[in-house]
Amino acid sequence: MRVGLVGWRGMVGSVLRERMQEEGDFEGLEVTYFTTSQVGEEGPVPGTELHDAHDLERLARHDVVITCQGGDYTEAVYRPLRETGWDGYWIDAASTLRLDPDAVVVLDPVNAEVIDAALERGVRTLVGGNCTVSLLLMAVAPLLRRGWVEWISTMTYQAASGAGAAAMRELAEQIRRLGAGFEAPLSAADASPLDLDAVTAKLQRGGLPCDELGAPLAGNLLPWIDRAMPGGQTREEWKAQVECHRILDLERPVPIDGVCVRVGTMRCHAQALTIKLHEAVELEEIEAVLGSAHPWAEVVPNTREATLERLHPAAVTGTLQVPVGRLRTMLQGSEYLAAYTVGDQLLWGAAEPLRRALAILRRRAGAGGSAASPAAELAPSGSAAP
Ligand code: HSE
Repeated sequence: MRVGLVGWRGMVGSVLRERMQEEGDFEGLEVTYFTTSQVGEEGPVPGTELHDAHDLERLARHDVVITCQGGDYTEAVYRPLRETGWDGYWIDAASTLRLDPDAVVVLDPVNAEVIDAALERGVRTLVGGNCTVSLLLMAVAPLLRRGWVEWISTMTYQAASGAGAAAMRELAEQIRRLGAGFEAPLSAADASPLDLDAVTAKLQRGGLPCDELGAPLAGNLLPWIDRAMPGGQTREEWKAQVECHRILDLERPVPIDGVCVRVGTMRCHAQALTIKLHEAVELEEIEAVLGSAHPWAEVVPNTREATLERLHPAAVTGTLQVPVGRLRTMLQGSEYLAAYTVGDQLLWGAAEPLRRALAILRRRAGAGGSAASPAAELAPSGSAAP
């Protein structure tokens, strides 16, 4: 199988290559590395040459093109490439084609049958979902699938890496300056804890670089992600309902909405959920359903010890586990379920569904294009260790 890789150097592309290496995905593949800026230079594998990512004729020589280059590249290249008559598989991390009728959004641990059906009817464009949406579904899709859910409110806590590499660097620089500011109040024997607060506020109100994030994120949180949409949502909030329905191909509409918040973590998106069920379901049954959803599902007992051990970004980052915890019935009534979930948005929220989409295509090619369900192939490897 000939595979063209575009955008392999960026954050998602780097995680994708790392995961493909870990899982031995490169074996048996003929890979061409494309570039938008360094044509002719050596690729990431010694002896390989970088080719122009806008060279349609060369792209069209591949069975599969995988791009993590971003929406502008997809806008510029996808249609012209299809117009050359190329009917290979396009696997894309960008949001551009997610709602395209000719595309399927891939998250095979929760929508293997949707992917199978799409491939059977000739769909050749496979797109990764939004990070927060994919992680939400990795955590609670079985409840939606069973038709138990009336609505979901999701309040997110999204890491700086979701805003890109420059945002990560800016957060690190903000943390460094705050740390330097704390030196004096932490060293002075007579310092008041309020001095720590005063230093923080002073730096946040004028002493921290904010070009990327728009405001201080270190020691702070920012309730705005992406651009404004009609009705007061941000685009990140808008995606929740639209993409959940698209991924699961839900028959009954389920309102899914909330407030998306950027927090001063480096990696992993967390979500606090209120789930309104049509009718009460025993907590034990909910835990059993969520815990057995797929090999990376994990129900964390609603205790302080388990929560502090397993249900936060520092515990989850770099792993494929998607823990869900703080599960309980709420005071609003027995049909109201509280839950909290965390996942690595660069893995299940970006790179992992793409490498698995490629694996699905390879299995199908190996099986002569049969409809062998990717769900049957779920491997409990989870080897992406910190
Ligand atoms: N839209 C997401 C965010 C990117 O801003 O966090 C996925 O990580």
